Amino acid sequence: DAGEAPAADGEAITVGFAQVGHESDWRTASTNSVKAALSSENGIDLQFVDCDNDSAAQLEAVRNFIEQDVDYIVIDPIVSTGWDTVLTEADDAGIPVIVIDRTIDDSDKYVSWVGSEFTNEGLAAGAWLKAYAEAKGIKELNILEITGTTGSSAEIGRTKGFHQFVDSEGWKLLDSQTGDFTQEGGQKVMESYCKSYAGKFNVVICQNDNEAFGAIDAMKAAGVSYGVDGDVIVISFDACTAGLQKVLDKEINADFQCNPLQGPDCLKIIQALQGGQTVEKQTFMEEPWFVSEDVLKDISYKNNSGKDVTEPLIVVD
Ligand code: AHR
Repeated sequence: DAGEAPAADGEAITVGFAQVGHESDWRTASTNSVKAALSSENGIDLQFVDCDNDSAAQLEAVRNFIEQDVDYIVIDPIVSTGWDTVLTEADDAGIPVIVIDRTIDDSDKYVSWVGSEFTNEGLAAGAWLKAYAEAKGIKELNILEITGTTGSSAEIGRTKGFHQFVDSEGWKLLDSQTGDFTQEGGQKVMESYCKSYAGKFNVVICQNDNEAFGAIDAMKAAGVSYGVDGDVIVISFDACTAGLQKVLDKEINADFQCNPLQGPDCLKIIQALQGGQTVEKQTFMEEPWFVSEDVLKDISYKNNSGKDVTEPLIVVD
């Protein structure tokens, strides 16, 4: 009962979109996807706010949309908690809220969410690393982790999934620090790791491609060999165009896709609500896994719902 659809009266439907920011290539793709779908050609007047990774600014943007009495609000939540009050305000004002990409975990006062199963992404990375190390005869894994924005569901899920393998396999996690999903952040953290853990690590897992680009630059500068022909296995998430290029160039060993193209789903949800139809509370995006070597055909793991799954691996060549 999170809000009612406005009556179709021939006028443009007004939508406010509170986007996370512009921290990554993935984010640019997400913004472009939503802007292309929620466009005037589709009868929508979109107000876009780039919240610059500032949670307070994002709450303020949503409150402004409520004040302006827009027809719908779309939120990609920077962090997963702290939402119940403002979503209650939107609900009281009769404005349906659609959540995309990251999840809101402390309120269910939104009509629909469409995004990624981040814990499965982390589990897939762990399952791949386990099988890859076995196939290559690598006995010991000494891992450095660069996490995403602390408190975002993308960071929480990827960490949770990957750490299940760290714990069950007894891998050594040497350090874990946030790179805030940015290239600059990834580079800074990796520069300090290269000094503190010189010669002691053979895996770096970056929670998005931009962090991986920064980490790669730092390893290059420090003379650390990485990727398929090097000493350090590089794992990333997103599989954006530049990330896939690095998989092709054998600099990133495995890249677990996070699909940013939620615009068309958002449009469908709005159109369904306009037509008085009910919509799915949750929609998961399709997300394939990409690798740089033809070593493993697929990976099997127990997913976040406890189901045994086997996913094909796509070799980028
Ligand atoms: O929420 C999705 C994550 O946020 C993507 O992995 C990352 O690139 C972005 O900044």
